[in-house]
Amino acid sequence: MPSDIPRRARKPGPGPSGEPRGVTSPEAYDDEREFDKTLRPRSFDEFVGHEKLKDNLRVFIEAAKRRGEALDHVLFYGPPGLGKTTLANICAIEMGVALTATSGPVIERPGDLAGVLTNLKERSVLFIDEVHRLNHIVEEYLYPAMEDYTLDIMLDRGPSARSIKLNLEKFTLIGATTRAGMITSPMRARFGVVARIDFYPPDDLKTIVKRSARILEVEIEEDGAFEIARRSRGTPRIANRLLRRVRDFAQIKGDGRITKPVVTLALEAMEVDERGLDDMDKRILTTIIEKFGGGPVGIGTLATAVGEEGETIEEIYEPYLVQEGFIERTSRGRVATELARRHFGAGGGRGEPTLFGS
Ligand SMILES: Nc1ncnc2c1ncn2[C@@H]1O[C@H](COP(=O)(O)OP(=O)(O)OP(=O)(O)O)[C@@H](O)[C@H]1O
Ligand SMILES: [Mg+2]
Repeated sequence: MPSDIPRRARKPGPGPSGEPRGVTSPEAYDDEREFDKTLRPRSFDEFVGHEKLKDNLRVFIEAAKRRGEALDHVLFYGPPGLGKTTLANICAIEMGVALTATSGPVIERPGDLAGVLTNLKERSVLFIDEVHRLNHIVEEYLYPAMEDYTLDIMLDRGPSARSIKLNLEKFTLIGATTRAGMITSPMRARFGVVARIDFYPPDDLKTIVKRSARILEVEIEEDGAFEIARRSRGTPRIANRLLRRVRDFAQIKGDGRITKPVVTLALEAMEVDERGLDDMDKRILTTIIEKFGGGPVGIGTLATAVGEEGETIEEIYEPYLVQEGFIERTSRGRVATELARRHFGAGGGRGEPTLFGS
């Protein structure tokens, strides 16, 4: 069963003005899906970090199994590349059931939804990625399915139209979204478990890098692993991508082993800076600082100025910049912080803040 189907019409790859998206874009590249699959954890034990969430899910799963019931509906939300799809798959594996994967925009009409729901086996998992992009009509049909495992469908049109109630097998809906704010409240209320997936601390990312290196059979030193971890924007997908690229450098420029000097060399060549920020991050921050006097600037205006869609900035770039304290969101727009000014200030150099500040 495909568990990670392509989802966005707007794919990573060339940006709107033709330039490639940076190596630290958290969205999956098309050619990464196979690679992703070999590295994707298949159990809670393999899934690094988020210990509290894993402990809770283990309890819910064990309890559901003992009662012979389906797991409660689960919603995972958080920025791209942090493990939402991975967790959905692990839940199904640990429940010992099949997983059917689809995504919000794919289910266009109630009929599409009925087709998916009526094919589900008892206790199995239906994974809906980008669940915030389900349309309203489909969503209305989903409510009774989630609540009472029933589906009202209309037969015929006009005077002979009648509705019949179908009973569905008891199933688990696992939804994933990068935009929790766009989930309607009746939808959200129907999930028994709602879990936010946050950025990972460098130590967890280091563990992920070492695990991936082991699977890829490449030798890596502790400080090399940490250096990759530190510059991965808190995101496992980026950590794995950087590892893969650094491995190439180690092979060509070194003896194959990943050491800290090799990582530094490789990341410099790929223009990933000291804080893991890439070209688009830099463009966003320097635009706020230089064109808009540090802000506040509205998201639409900022998007036009940097040549990117507002939605992409909000979903892909901004969360990390906010978490790391480079940007503040105010009611009047985005503001570049003192940290951002220091990072890119005085000559706009990359790397550590300059000694003399801005
Ligand atoms: N906790 C983790 N431990 C180890 N590897 C992880 C972890 N979380 C994610 N990964 C790795 O990162 C990759 C991306 O994760 P995943 O596809 O689950 O992210 P996602 O949150 O679904 O992203 P998107 O929003 O783009 O769909 C996985 O293939 C996996 O290899
Ligand atoms: Mg996903």
